[in-house]
Amino acid sequence: MTSRRRFLRRGAFLSLVVALATLGVTFLTGFIVRREEIRPRLEELKTVALPKPRLDGPLSVEQAIQRRRSRREYRDESLPLSDVSQLLWAAQGVTAPHLWTGLRSAPSAGGLYPLETYVVVKNGGVEGLAAGVYHYNPHRHHLSLVAEGDYSKPLMSACIDQEWVGAAAFNIVFTAVVERTRVRYGDRAVQYVFQESGHAAENVYLQAESLGLGTVVIGAFIEDEIRRILKVSSDELPVYVMPVGRPA
Ligand SMILES: Cc1cc2nc3c(=O)[nH]c(=O)nc-3n(C[C@H](O)[C@H](O)[C@H](O)COP(=O)(O)O)c2cc1C
Repeated sequence: MTSRRRFLRRGAFLSLVVALATLGVTFLTGFIVRREEIRPRLEELKTVALPKPRLDGPLSVEQAIQRRRSRREYRDESLPLSDVSQLLWAAQGVTAPHLWTGLRSAPSAGGLYPLETYVVVKNGGVEGLAAGVYHYNPHRHHLSLVAEGDYSKPLMSACIDQEWVGAAAFNIVFTAVVERTRVRYGDRAVQYVFQESGHAAENVYLQAESLGLGTVVIGAFIEDEIRRILKVSSDELPVYVMPVGRPA
């Protein structure tokens, strides 16, 4: 074999090794991030299965966009668990489970999914669901109990006493694990997680309109107080609170 041929062969072999190594690193990074995301927490002992979300509704996308408003006055009315299910699915539900990472209802930079979603349920706010703080698992479409009890007033206080937080049947709270996005995007991660929370929140707004419910995005809150209520560490950055109720 000529030395030129040997050289070309070695080049092809090295390219193959580099390509395989890159694939391996990408796979492992994705695997670690995903394992991290679905690893059960110690406090997640009690789980609540959510009804299957439906894929049709009474409003067209155009009608939901036209009607969307921030609604802050709610009736004192219990909502069915199916409403919780539908809103969480709209926010972060897995819509393409066949792909190994699972793709969701809202886009995410690099498919890294930094958002975590919680529900703070008021006493009597949701039919058949005890008051408490719950974490949403999008892969299994279920809730895991984080803390029992009515945290709607502490949450209202964390949101600078905005009354609609206390009046809502339940509040959806989004946090972001910025590190999940930072591993690939460095300093742009903070910008990305806020952009992603906007996508998830808009889905909730539009789904709420379709369900005849009212919601509003709350950006004014004290981060550490929200963390205390959710029982999360400083690894999670609270990004939005969304009270939900039947409009008065
Ligand atoms: C980033 C952001 C933060 C917001 N924070 C609050 C808030 O803390 N409390 C509140 O009642 N509304 C909040 N809003 C809702 C706005 O007040 C509302 O979107 C605006 O008045 C326009 O009304 P519309 O949503 O009905 O179109 C926020 C909206 C955005 C986009």
